[in-house]
Amino acid sequence: MTQKQRTASESKQFSDPRLVTAYDSINALGDDRDFWLHEVDKLSPSTIVDFGCGTGLLTCELAKRGYQTIGIDPAVAMLDVARQKPYADRVEWIEGDYEKLSGLQADLLLMTSHVAQFLLADKEWTGMLGMAHDTLRNDGYLMFDSRRSLVESFKNWPTERSRRRVSDPSLGEIEYWCNVIEARNGLATYELHYLFKESGEVVVSTDKILFRSYSEIEEGLTTAGFRVQTVYGDWDCSLYNEMSPEMIFVAQKKEPSII
Ligand SMILES: C[S@@+](CC[C@H](N)C(=O)[O-])C[C@H]1O[C@@H](n2cnc3c(N)ncnc32)[C@H](O)[C@@H]1O
Repeated sequence: MTQKQRTASESKQFSDPRLVTAYDSINALGDDRDFWLHEVDKLSPSTIVDFGCGTGLLTCELAKRGYQTIGIDPAVAMLDVARQKPYADRVEWIEGDYEKLSGLQADLLLMTSHVAQFLLADKEWTGMLGMAHDTLRNDGYLMFDSRRSLVESFKNWPTERSRRRVSDPSLGEIEYWCNVIEARNGLATYELHYLFKESGEVVVSTDKILFRSYSEIEEGLTTAGFRVQTVYGDWDCSLYNEMSPEMIFVAQKKEPSII
């Protein structure tokens, strides 16, 4: 097992059985679901890789719509939940990191719900972009989201004093909130606290996410051989500007160089 795999699987958020069970209740797809489905339908790819597919919220929706779909994720517990969902039997599930892209072929590679921000090391980021390029057929697409601003993003997350609540069908009432431990050079270390109301137990997951700038992402894509086609700024399909909450990149694999 590589260091990258250990990092994702060791995050309590993606490995603790209760937190993984609660994932869908807390992170139910919203406006982003309609956005992704609309963009995918526009491209009508025959094969899609959902990289960092998690519990398969979107992966299984894509399979339901008839797309040949491959879901890759390093977190075993997340994949176990995904495999129980309707239409999961139509998906090829692969446990692992970006190196598992080796040998696959697809027309579209997706990373949704800010998976890109969990790829912290430059080596992993550029490695993933390179492998995505190899995986995609000519003119294939890479689409992913990344939050624009560290400061603005965390303003919208619940704090201990402004907790959010969900009612999970199997775990009951859960309160959850976030506590930012450190934010430096675009790298945020934060705790997610989950209070299970029935037992009174609190589980804390400590994670890191990286906020790459627009130009860093654009440069990475260009270097890997992609042409940035569109960058949306929000789920309403508005184009990116410097105040947008999101940077949603749609990049196309360029023709191989003939030089
Ligand atoms: C916020 S969840 C998003 C899951 C899914 N894409 C969705 O839309 O619900 C982030 C996912 O990224 C995965 N992940 C974390 N680090 C990763 C890495 N280095 N490479 C690939 N996936 C990673 C986690 O295991 C988790 O399933």
